[in-house]
Amino acid sequence: MDREKNQSEQNQMAISRSDLPKPSVMALIDKSPIASVVSNPRLPDNPIVAVNDAFQALTGYDRDFIIGRNCRFLAGKATEPWLTEEIRRGVRQQKSVLVEILNYKKDGTPFQNAVLVAPLFDEEGELEYFLGSQVEIDGDSASLAKPRRMRAVAIVKDLSKRQREVLQFIAKGLLNKQIAHELGLSERTIKMHRSILMKRLNVPSAADMVRLAVEAGM
Ligand SMILES: Cc1cc2nc3c(=O)[nH]c(=O)nc-3n(C[C@H](O)[C@H](O)[C@H](O)COP(=O)(O)O)c2cc1C
Repeated sequence: MDREKNQSEQNQMAISRSDLPKPSVMALIDKSPIASVVSNPRLPDNPIVAVNDAFQALTGYDRDFIIGRNCRFLAGKATEPWLTEEIRRGVRQQKSVLVEILNYKKDGTPFQNAVLVAPLFDEEGELEYFLGSQVEIDGDSASLAKPRRMRAVAIVKDLSKRQREVLQFIAKGLLNKQIAHELGLSERTIKMHRSILMKRLNVPSAADMVRLAVEAGM
């Protein structure tokens, strides 16, 4: 662990002001009560460029340590390599993944982390960021994440077909402009759907909306 930590300390990248995400991306996670980070895959080693308070509270690491570092510092001795590979595959293929993996807090305490990693695309449809959101699952049984998934499925089931379609694209990391293009609707209409969805799903931030959609299996 110590050796890995030292290694990862050496790997922290100095993030310049221009590397920091736009306010709209900060806003994506700022209001979320769920631990969340945003990483920039256009920089070497996909470092974290934004982190919210809930992530610092969950992991015990502070912002200065986190920014500029790849999220692998949460992994440790008993982290399941096949689950890490699943995250790596999602990142490579630019697809959302939801994995329950063993991670470690700063003080060494292991915890079961139901982590979501989802791509976020820019206006041109090019990969721009990854959203990461981490939920601690109490106890050592992964099945405890089940109630979250069941709740998500129930909520999504109640939506209209159109709302579900829009949500599906949101979960894939698409912006309003691209969703409008995909569905042959105006950007204004998508914007309206997005704000109705936020209310219907009762989520405080777009990051939580993506998470709920992926938890529902979208
Ligand atoms: C946005 C984002 C969030 C991530 N969050 C976690 C996490 O919470 N826990 C974890 O074990 N890996 C997480 N990862 C994966 C690690 O950053 C890293 O890719 C993985 O541990 C593989 O490390 P390696 O490149 O050294 O093989 C995340 C990746 C991204 C892009």
